[in-house]
Amino acid sequence: MASEPSSGNRDRKFSEQDYYKFYMEEKELNKNLEQELAFHRIELQKFKNEAAKVYALSQAQRKDKVNLSSQAEKILKDLHLVNRNLRTKIKELDTAKKNIHEAYKDTINRLVLASEYKDNETGNHILRMSNYSVYLAEIYGFDAQMLEEIELAAPMHDVGKIGIKDSILFKNGKLTDDEFNEMKRHTIIGGAILENPDSPILECARLIALCHHEKWNGRGYPNGIKAEEIPIHARIVSISDTFDALTSKRPYKTPYPVDVSCDIIKKGRGEDFDPDLVDLFLSNIDGFVVIKNKIDNDATDEAQIKANFAWSERDRIENKQ
Ligand SMILES: [Fe+2]
Ligand SMILES: [Fe+2]
Repeated sequence: MASEPSSGNRDRKFSEQDYYKFYMEEKELNKNLEQELAFHRIELQKFKNEAAKVYALSQAQRKDKVNLSSQAEKILKDLHLVNRNLRTKIKELDTAKKNIHEAYKDTINRLVLASEYKDNETGNHILRMSNYSVYLAEIYGFDAQMLEEIELAAPMHDVGKIGIKDSILFKNGKLTDDEFNEMKRHTIIGGAILENPDSPILECARLIALCHHEKWNGRGYPNGIKAEEIPIHARIVSISDTFDALTSKRPYKTPYPVDVSCDIIKKGRGEDFDPDLVDLFLSNIDGFVVIKNKIDNDATDEAQIKANFAWSERDRIENKQ
């Protein structure tokens, strides 16, 4: 800084050169300050420019954010609408599916009803044997879908009897060999009626109708297939159908007691029937008896059944009584 003429120097005499020196020093100082100021002005301007840029950027970003959030909001709204529409459609489809399923079950029941007109077996036989089949299939380990399939398919096991002559179906006496051969055709006719590769239930019903008289030892009909060649559904129905026929009253026989019926099925273990299924059936017989007594078959009083029991002509021969 310039050494200016201070009060301490009041008495001192300054020369012209001194004043000139002071002047030059002040001038230099001003020049430096002005330069410094100019520099700061430039820095300030730079800072202002930067600040303006940052502000502009932040404004743009804010705008983007606003745009983004309004876009996101719109997308969410659209999604919500699509979701709601989808849910409505799913509900409608579900209802339609249920209706179709009900109509399908109804059609099956009518088909079974139609076959009952041509059969001595009653509606309760159909109901019991299908309940026995579901129970045995459940113990065997079928999943829910397979259980539904067998429940709907088992009642159609004798649907092929529609195609058998009344004179054979309703004959009181023993069938001749020719008549019996004709009767056996109900399996093939049933299989043909139920042929529909697109429907798992009808495919299951077809296998049951075609194979429910096949025997484990290969001596059944119509194709004489044996053991595991016989579809599992048909092996199950074979035991259920036989158990109900044995324990029910038929035109040609009195109802057999449960223990006699079990003995007959046990005798068929590995011959007529799948040995594993027979074991499952016998070890769960109480459950089958509950079903038997729940669905009326005019034969729930075991003591009376035992008192009235007599072998039918056919079973007396087969059981060598
Ligand atoms: Fe049959
Ligand atoms: Fe039957």
